[in-house]
Amino acid sequence: MTTHHPESATKSTPVPTSLFAAERSAEIVADSFAATPDPRLREILGSLVHHLHAFAKDVDLTVDEWAAGIRFLTETGHTCDDTRQEFIMLSDVLGLSMLVETLANPAQDRYTESTVEGPFHMVASPPRALGDSIDEAAAGGEPCLVTGRVTDADGAPVAGASVDVWQADADGFYDVQRPGEVPDRNLRGLFTADDDGRFHFRTIVPRHYPIPTDGPVGGLLRATGRHCYRAAHIHVQVSSPTTRTLTTHLFVADSPYLDSDAVFGVKESLIRTFAEVDDPERAAAHALPNPFRHVDFPVTVQRTGT
Ligand SMILES: [Fe+2]
Repeated sequence: MTTHHPESATKSTPVPTSLFAAERSAEIVADSFAATPDPRLREILGSLVHHLHAFAKDVDLTVDEWAAGIRFLTETGHTCDDTRQEFIMLSDVLGLSMLVETLANPAQDRYTESTVEGPFHMVASPPRALGDSIDEAAAGGEPCLVTGRVTDADGAPVAGASVDVWQADADGFYDVQRPGEVPDRNLRGLFTADDDGRFHFRTIVPRHYPIPTDGPVGGLLRATGRHCYRAAHIHVQVSSPTTRTLTTHLFVADSPYLDSDAVFGVKESLIRTFAEVDDPERAAAHALPNPFRHVDFPVTVQRTGT
C-alpha cells in the first residue's frame, strides 16, 4: 500500500472553495444553505451564520469558552418544563424579547405600546365574567379594581375583545411557582369586553418580583452583577378577530425597579397610578373592601389590514 499521491501535490490542482478557511468561514457555511427552498429561512440562516461567526472572531472565542456556552445552553434546555421556560427568560434578560416585540409593533404613537409576553403565560387563563375577581387565594395584597376600554385608532370600541390578564401575587410569585399552595390559575383571567369595548375586574395590586434565579439565567445575572427584579405589573393581552393581538403590561407607578427592569420591559406610556379610592358606596358596588386601589387602562389596538 502506498501513500504517495503525486497528483494531489501538484500546484495546479485547485483547492475546493468549500473547504473550511477561517477568513471565509461565514460565506462557506452560508453557501451550504443556498439551496434552502424557503427564501425567508435561507435569509435567516445566512444572517445568523454571518453574525455568529463574526461574534466568535470578534471575541477570539476559545474552545473552552465555546464548551462553556454549550453547557450553558444545555442547562437552559434542561431547566425548561411545562411551567418553567428558561429560554424565554434568557431571551428576556438579553433584551431580545423586547427588541423583537418592539420591531413587530412600530406604530406605537397610535396604539398602546407593547412589551414582552414573559415566561409565565404557559397556562391558559380561565374565562371569567366582567367584574369577577382573579384573586382566588385571598392571601393578602391590596384590593384593586382594574377598568379599561378597548378601542381602535379611531376611538371606535372593539366589542367583545378578549382581554387576557395574569399577574404575580402580593409575595411576587405566579401560581405556577406555587403549585399546591394556591389554586391553579390564580391571578389569571380571560375576560370578554362588552359591546362598548369596556372591561373591568377585581384583583390585588401586584408586587415587584425576582425572575427565577435557581437556573442558568440566574447564574448569568449573578456572574454579571445584575439584579433579578421586575417592576410590578399586570400582563395584558388583547385580541379580537378584527385586530392585531396586543401583548403588553400595566406597570404600577410606585413600584421599585421601573428604571432597571431585569427584562427591559418598561415603557413610560404603560406606567399607571393605582390610585387609592376611599368611597364606601363604590367599594360596595364592586364587592371590594373600602378603601381600595383603582387603575384605568384604556387600550388602543390596531385593526387588521390597516
Ligand atoms: Fe410578569
